[in-house]
Amino acid sequence: MIVLSVESSCDETSVSIVRDGKEVLSNIVLSQIDIHKAYGGVVPEIASREHIKGITMVFEEALKEANIDKTNIDLVAVTNGPGLIGSLLVGVNAAKAFAFSNDIEIIGVHHIAGHIYANQITAELEFPLICLVVSGGHTELILMKEHYDFQKLGETMDDAVGEAYDKVARTVGLGYPGGPIVDKLAQKGKPSYKMPNISLGNNYNFSFSGIKSHVINLVHNTKQRNEELVIEDLCASFQETVSEVLVTKSLKAIKEYNAKMFIIAGGVAANKGLRKKINKRITMVKVVVPEFRYCTDNAAMIGIAGYYQYLRNSSTDDMSLNGLSRMKMK
Ligand code: KG4
Ligand code: ZN
Repeated sequence: MIVLSVESSCDETSVSIVRDGKEVLSNIVLSQIDIHKAYGGVVPEIASREHIKGITMVFEEALKEANIDKTNIDLVAVTNGPGLIGSLLVGVNAAKAFAFSNDIEIIGVHHIAGHIYANQITAELEFPLICLVVSGGHTELILMKEHYDFQKLGETMDDAVGEAYDKVARTVGLGYPGGPIVDKLAQKGKPSYKMPNISLGNNYNFSFSGIKSHVINLVHNTKQRNEELVIEDLCASFQETVSEVLVTKSLKAIKEYNAKMFIIAGGVAANKGLRKKINKRITMVKVVVPEFRYCTDNAAMIGIAGYYQYLRNSSTDDMSLNGLSRMKMK
Protein backbone atom coordinates (compact mmCIF):
# COMPACT_ATOMS: atom_id res chain seq x y z
CA MET A 1 0.00 0.00 0.00
CA ILE A 2 1.46 3.36 -1.01
CA VAL A 3 0.68 6.38 1.19
CA LEU A 4 1.34 10.01 0.31
CA SER A 5 1.58 12.04 3.51
CA VAL A 6 1.65 15.73 4.36
CA GLU A 7 2.93 17.52 7.48
CA SER A 8 2.64 21.28 8.01
CA SER A 9 1.71 21.68 11.70
CA CYS A 10 4.49 24.09 12.64
CA ASP A 11 7.48 25.38 10.66
CA GLU A 12 8.31 22.45 8.38
CA THR A 13 6.54 21.86 5.06
CA SER A 14 6.89 18.18 4.29
CA VAL A 15 5.51 15.58 1.87
CA SER A 16 6.51 11.93 1.85
CA ILE A 17 5.73 8.70 0.05
CA VAL A 18 5.88 5.52 2.16
CA ARG A 19 5.30 1.91 1.07
CA ASP A 20 3.57 -0.51 3.48
CA GLY A 21 4.15 1.64 6.56
CA LYS A 22 7.90 1.08 6.55
CA GLU A 23 9.78 1.83 3.34
CA VAL A 24 10.33 5.58 2.92
CA LEU A 25 10.47 6.23 -0.84
CA SER A 26 10.81 9.99 -0.40
CA ASN A 27 10.62 12.47 2.46
CA ILE A 28 11.01 16.10 1.41
CA VAL A 29 11.29 18.58 4.33
CA LEU A 30 11.36 22.31 3.69
CA SER A 31 12.36 23.95 6.97
CA GLN A 32 11.52 27.56 7.86
CA ILE A 33 13.93 27.68 10.81
CA ASP A 34 16.21 30.27 9.19
CA ILE A 35 13.24 32.60 8.61
CA HIS A 36 11.90 32.37 12.20
CA LYS A 37 15.37 32.58 13.80
CA ALA A 38 15.37 36.36 13.51
CA TYR A 39 12.28 36.52 15.76
CA GLY A 40 13.51 34.04 18.39
CA GLY A 41 10.62 31.65 17.74
CA VAL A 42 7.97 30.62 15.22
CA VAL A 43 5.74 33.49 14.00
CA PRO A 44 2.44 31.77 13.09
CA GLU A 45 1.39 34.17 10.30
CA ILE A 46 4.78 33.94 8.60
CA ALA A 47 4.71 30.15 8.99
CA SER A 48 1.35 29.89 7.17
CA ARG A 49 2.55 32.08 4.32
CA GLU A 50 5.76 30.08 3.92
CA HIS A 51 3.79 26.82 3.81
CA ILE A 52 1.67 28.27 0.98
CA LYS A 53 4.80 29.29 -0.93
CA GLY A 54 6.48 25.90 -0.59
CA ILE A 55 3.78 23.23 -0.56
CA THR A 56 3.33 22.70 -4.33
CA MET A 57 7.07 22.37 -4.90
CA VAL A 58 7.39 19.95 -1.97
CA PHE A 59 4.57 17.78 -3.39
CA GLU A 60 6.27 17.71 -6.79
CA GLU A 61 9.69 16.88 -5.32
CA ALA A 62 8.28 14.05 -3.19
CA LEU A 63 6.57 12.43 -6.20
CA LYS A 64 9.65 12.90 -8.38
CA GLU A 65 12.08 11.47 -5.85
CA ALA A 66 9.89 8.44 -5.13
CA ASN A 67 9.51 7.94 -8.89
CA ILE A 68 5.83 7.18 -8.33
CA ASP A 69 2.91 8.03 -10.54
CA LYS A 70 -0.09 9.61 -8.83
CA THR A 71 -2.28 6.73 -10.00
CA ASN A 72 -0.28 4.31 -7.79
CA ILE A 73 -1.09 6.13 -4.54
CA ASP A 74 -3.62 4.27 -2.39
CA LEU A 75 -4.11 6.69 0.50
CA VAL A 76 -3.42 10.30 1.48
CA ALA A 77 -2.57 10.97 5.16
CA VAL A 78 -2.30 14.48 6.56
CA THR A 79 -1.51 15.94 9.98
CA ASN A 80 -4.75 17.48 11.19
CA GLY A 81 -3.59 18.55 14.67
CA PRO A 82 -2.37 19.58 17.09
CA GLY A 83 -0.41 22.51 15.72
CA LEU A 84 -0.65 26.08 14.49
CA ILE A 85 -4.09 26.37 12.93
CA GLY A 86 -3.01 28.51 9.96
CA SER A 87 -0.14 26.13 9.22
CA LEU A 88 -2.32 23.02 9.53
CA LEU A 89 -4.89 24.50 7.15
CA VAL A 90 -2.36 24.75 4.34
CA GLY A 91 -1.32 21.09 4.57
CA VAL A 92 -4.87 19.79 5.09
CA ASN A 93 -6.24 21.73 2.11
CA ALA A 94 -3.35 20.79 -0.17
CA ALA A 95 -3.82 17.13 0.81
CA LYS A 96 -7.60 17.34 0.28
CA ALA A 97 -7.13 18.93 -3.15
CA PHE A 98 -4.63 16.24 -4.15
CA ALA A 99 -6.88 13.43 -2.88
CA PHE A 100 -9.99 14.86 -4.50
CA SER A 101 -8.43 15.52 -7.88
CA ASN A 102 -6.88 12.05 -8.01
CA ASP A 103 -9.85 10.23 -6.45
CA ILE A 104 -7.89 8.85 -3.45
CA GLU A 105 -9.16 8.29 0.10
CA ILE A 106 -7.77 10.70 2.73
CA ILE A 107 -7.35 10.43 6.51
CA GLY A 108 -6.33 12.93 9.22
CA VAL A 109 -3.45 11.87 11.49
CA HIS A 110 -2.53 13.14 14.97
CA HIS A 111 0.89 14.76 14.94
CA ILE A 112 2.09 12.87 18.04
CA ALA A 113 1.01 9.53 16.58
CA GLY A 114 3.36 10.44 13.74
CA HIS A 115 6.27 11.08 16.11
CA ILE A 116 5.61 7.73 17.82
CA TYR A 117 5.53 5.85 14.49
CA ALA A 118 8.88 7.35 13.38
CA ASN A 119 10.29 4.47 15.43
CA GLN A 120 8.74 1.90 13.07
CA ILE A 121 11.33 2.95 10.45
CA THR A 122 14.10 1.76 12.81
CA ALA A 123 12.47 -1.43 14.13
CA GLU A 124 9.22 -3.36 14.17
CA LEU A 125 7.22 -2.22 17.21
CA GLU A 126 6.68 -4.91 19.87
CA PHE A 127 3.87 -4.70 22.42
CA PRO A 128 3.25 -3.83 25.16
CA LEU A 129 5.58 -0.88 24.80
CA ILE A 130 6.20 2.34 26.66
CA CYS A 131 6.79 5.50 24.64
CA LEU A 132 8.30 8.67 26.06
CA VAL A 133 6.99 11.59 23.98
CA VAL A 134 9.25 14.63 24.24
CA SER A 135 8.51 17.38 21.71
CA GLY A 136 8.21 21.14 21.61
CA GLY A 137 4.57 20.96 22.65
CA HIS A 138 4.18 17.59 24.43
CA THR A 139 5.74 15.57 27.23
CA GLU A 140 3.90 12.33 27.85
CA LEU A 141 4.36 8.70 28.83
CA ILE A 142 2.24 6.44 26.63
CA LEU A 143 1.41 2.75 26.97
CA MET A 144 0.69 0.92 23.71
CA LYS A 145 -0.74 -2.60 23.96
CA GLU A 146 -1.13 -2.98 20.20
CA HIS A 147 -0.86 -0.95 17.00
CA TYR A 148 -2.61 2.39 17.12
CA ASP A 149 -3.78 1.94 20.70
CA PHE A 150 -2.55 4.76 22.94
CA GLN A 151 -3.06 5.03 26.68
CA LYS A 152 -1.67 8.14 28.32
CA LEU A 153 -0.07 7.31 31.68
CA GLY A 154 1.06 10.84 32.50
CA GLU A 155 1.94 14.19 31.01
CA THR A 156 3.42 17.58 31.81
CA MET A 157 1.44 19.77 34.16
CA ASP A 158 2.89 22.92 32.59
CA ASP A 159 5.67 23.38 29.99
CA ALA A 160 6.69 20.71 27.50
CA VAL A 161 10.32 19.67 27.76
CA GLY A 162 11.25 21.13 24.33
CA GLU A 163 9.59 24.40 25.29
CA ALA A 164 11.69 24.52 28.50
CA TYR A 165 14.85 23.88 26.44
CA ASP A 166 13.96 26.69 24.04
CA LYS A 167 13.20 29.16 26.87
CA VAL A 168 16.40 28.35 28.74
CA ALA A 169 18.36 28.85 25.52
CA ARG A 170 16.65 32.18 24.86
CA THR A 171 17.44 33.43 28.40
CA VAL A 172 21.10 32.59 27.98
CA GLY A 173 21.05 34.18 24.49
CA LEU A 174 21.74 31.02 22.52
CA GLY A 175 19.30 31.45 19.62
CA TYR A 176 16.46 29.39 18.18
CA PRO A 177 15.67 26.51 18.28
CA GLY A 178 17.47 26.26 21.59
CA GLY A 179 17.25 22.51 22.26
CA PRO A 180 20.06 21.37 19.94
CA ILE A 181 22.35 24.25 21.08
CA VAL A 182 21.82 23.52 24.80
CA ASP A 183 22.44 19.83 24.04
CA LYS A 184 25.72 20.60 22.26
CA LEU A 185 26.99 22.90 25.04
CA ALA A 186 25.92 20.41 27.73
CA GLN A 187 28.31 17.82 26.22
CA LYS A 188 31.20 20.18 27.05
CA GLY A 189 30.13 21.04 30.62
CA LYS A 190 29.82 19.53 34.08
CA PRO A 191 26.50 19.42 35.96
CA SER A 192 27.88 21.61 38.75
CA TYR A 193 24.94 24.02 39.22
CA LYS A 194 22.38 22.99 41.83
CA MET A 195 18.95 22.43 40.22
CA PRO A 196 15.55 22.07 41.94
CA ASN A 197 13.90 18.71 42.53
CA ILE A 198 11.42 18.19 39.66
CA SER A 199 10.35 14.61 40.39
CA LEU A 200 6.73 15.55 41.37
CA GLY A 201 6.42 12.40 43.49
CA ASN A 202 5.74 8.81 42.59
CA ASN A 203 3.55 9.28 39.50
CA TYR A 204 3.87 9.65 35.72
CA ASN A 205 3.37 13.41 35.49
CA PHE A 206 6.06 15.96 34.76
CA SER A 207 6.69 19.64 35.46
CA PHE A 208 9.35 21.78 33.82
CA SER A 209 8.27 25.34 34.56
CA GLY A 210 10.02 25.26 37.98
CA ILE A 211 13.42 24.35 36.60
CA LYS A 212 12.94 26.81 33.73
CA SER A 213 12.24 29.67 36.17
CA HIS A 214 15.14 28.54 38.34
CA VAL A 215 17.55 28.79 35.39
CA ILE A 216 16.14 32.19 34.33
CA ASN A 217 16.56 33.56 37.90
CA LEU A 218 20.02 32.08 38.20
CA VAL A 219 21.12 33.77 34.95
CA HIS A 220 19.68 37.17 35.98
CA ASN A 221 21.12 37.02 39.53
CA THR A 222 24.55 36.01 38.27
CA LYS A 223 24.53 38.90 35.78
CA GLN A 224 23.41 41.39 38.46
CA ARG A 225 26.22 40.32 40.74
CA ASN A 226 28.66 40.59 37.84
CA GLU A 227 29.71 37.00 38.37
CA GLU A 228 30.82 34.66 35.61
CA LEU A 229 28.26 32.25 34.22
CA VAL A 230 29.70 29.00 32.89
CA ILE A 231 27.14 28.37 30.18
CA GLU A 232 28.35 24.84 29.38
CA ASP A 233 27.98 23.84 33.04
CA LEU A 234 24.56 25.47 33.28
CA CYS A 235 23.39 23.55 30.18
CA ALA A 236 24.87 20.31 31.56
CA SER A 237 23.10 20.83 34.92
CA PHE A 238 19.75 21.55 33.27
CA GLN A 239 20.09 18.61 30.87
CA GLU A 240 21.15 16.18 33.60
CA THR A 241 18.17 17.03 35.85
CA VAL A 242 15.64 16.94 33.01
CA SER A 243 16.89 13.68 31.48
CA GLU A 244 17.11 12.04 34.92
CA VAL A 245 13.42 12.59 35.63
CA LEU A 246 12.41 11.49 32.11
CA VAL A 247 14.38 8.24 32.36
CA THR A 248 13.37 7.48 35.97
CA LYS A 249 9.63 7.76 35.19
CA SER A 250 10.06 5.77 31.96
CA LEU A 251 11.75 2.97 33.92
CA LYS A 252 8.92 2.91 36.46
CA ALA A 253 6.36 2.55 33.63
CA ILE A 254 8.39 -0.18 31.87
CA LYS A 255 8.43 -2.23 35.08
CA GLU A 256 4.82 -1.62 36.06
CA TYR A 257 3.40 -2.57 32.64
CA ASN A 258 5.89 -5.37 31.84
CA ALA A 259 6.86 -3.64 28.62
CA LYS A 260 8.79 -5.52 25.93
CA MET A 261 10.02 -2.38 24.25
CA PHE A 262 10.81 1.25 25.06
CA ILE A 263 10.71 3.94 22.38
CA ILE A 264 11.07 7.73 22.37
CA ALA A 265 9.36 10.28 20.15
CA GLY A 266 9.45 14.00 19.30
CA GLY A 267 12.13 16.59 18.65
CA VAL A 268 13.85 16.14 22.03
CA ALA A 269 14.38 12.45 21.14
CA ALA A 270 17.40 13.81 19.25
CA ASN A 271 18.96 14.89 22.56
CA LYS A 272 22.35 13.20 23.03
CA GLY A 273 22.33 13.44 26.84
CA LEU A 274 18.90 11.80 27.02
CA ARG A 275 19.92 9.04 24.57
CA LYS A 276 23.08 8.34 26.57
CA LYS A 277 21.15 8.05 29.83
CA ILE A 278 18.52 5.82 28.24
CA ASN A 279 21.19 3.45 26.88
CA LYS A 280 22.90 3.31 30.26
CA ARG A 281 19.85 2.87 32.48
CA ILE A 282 17.23 1.08 30.37
CA THR A 283 18.82 -2.30 29.74
CA MET A 284 16.04 -4.77 30.60
CA VAL A 285 13.96 -4.18 27.44
CA LYS A 286 14.60 -3.53 23.77
CA VAL A 287 15.21 0.22 23.29
CA VAL A 288 14.41 1.88 19.96
CA VAL A 289 15.13 5.49 19.11
CA PRO A 290 14.21 7.17 15.82
CA GLU A 291 16.94 8.12 13.36
CA PHE A 292 17.97 11.75 13.94
CA ARG A 293 16.37 12.91 10.67
CA TYR A 294 13.00 11.44 11.72
CA CYS A 295 13.02 12.97 15.24
CA THR A 296 11.88 16.44 14.23
CA ASP A 297 8.81 17.16 12.10
CA ASN A 298 8.58 15.27 8.81
CA ALA A 299 5.84 13.72 6.67
CA ALA A 300 7.29 10.17 6.58
CA MET A 301 6.25 9.62 10.20
CA ILE A 302 2.72 10.79 9.34
CA GLY A 303 2.58 8.35 6.40
CA ILE A 304 3.55 5.44 8.65
CA ALA A 305 1.11 6.40 11.42
CA GLY A 306 -1.57 6.93 8.73
CA TYR A 307 -0.96 3.43 7.35
CA TYR A 308 -1.46 1.79 10.78
CA GLN A 309 -4.43 4.02 11.56
CA TYR A 310 -6.01 2.96 8.27
CA LEU A 311 -5.38 -0.72 9.00
CA ARG A 312 -6.99 -0.38 12.41
CA ASN A 313 -9.71 1.89 11.11
CA SER A 314 -9.55 3.72 14.42
CA SER A 315 -10.95 7.18 14.86
CA THR A 316 -11.04 7.69 18.62
CA ASP A 317 -8.92 6.60 21.58
CA ASP A 318 -7.68 7.66 25.01
CA MET A 319 -5.48 10.40 23.64
CA SER A 320 -8.21 11.63 21.28
CA LEU A 321 -5.52 11.17 18.70
CA ASN A 322 -7.83 11.53 15.76
CA GLY A 323 -9.83 14.67 16.21
CA LEU A 324 -10.66 14.44 12.54
CA SER A 325 -11.77 10.99 11.53
CA ARG A 326 -11.73 9.74 7.99
CA MET A 327 -12.56 12.34 5.43
CA LYS A 328 -14.36 10.63 2.59
CA MET A 329 -13.83 12.64 -0.55
CA LYS A 330 -15.59 10.30 -2.96
O1 KG4 B 1 8.75 17.46 17.68
P1 KG4 B 1 9.24 18.79 17.25
O2 KG4 B 1 9.96 18.90 15.95
O3 KG4 B 1 8.06 19.81 17.20
C1 KG4 B 1 6.89 19.65 17.90
O4 KG4 B 1 6.08 18.78 17.48
O5 KG4 B 1 6.75 20.31 18.94
O6 KG4 B 1 10.15 19.30 18.43
C2 KG4 B 1 10.76 20.53 18.42
C3 KG4 B 1 11.45 20.69 19.75
C4 KG4 B 1 12.05 22.07 19.96
O7 KG4 B 1 11.66 22.53 21.23
C5 KG4 B 1 13.56 21.82 19.90
O8 KG4 B 1 14.31 22.73 20.67
C6 KG4 B 1 13.65 20.42 20.46
O9 KG4 B 1 12.55 19.75 19.88
N1 KG4 B 1 14.91 19.73 20.11
C7 KG4 B 1 15.83 19.37 21.02
C8 KG4 B 1 16.90 18.79 20.32
N2 KG4 B 1 16.59 18.80 18.97
C9 KG4 B 1 15.36 19.39 18.88
N3 KG4 B 1 15.83 19.51 22.37
C10 KG4 B 1 16.89 19.04 23.04
N4 KG4 B 1 17.97 18.48 22.43
C11 KG4 B 1 18.02 18.31 21.09
N5 KG4 B 1 19.08 17.76 20.51
ZN1 ZN C 1 6.54 17.59 16.15
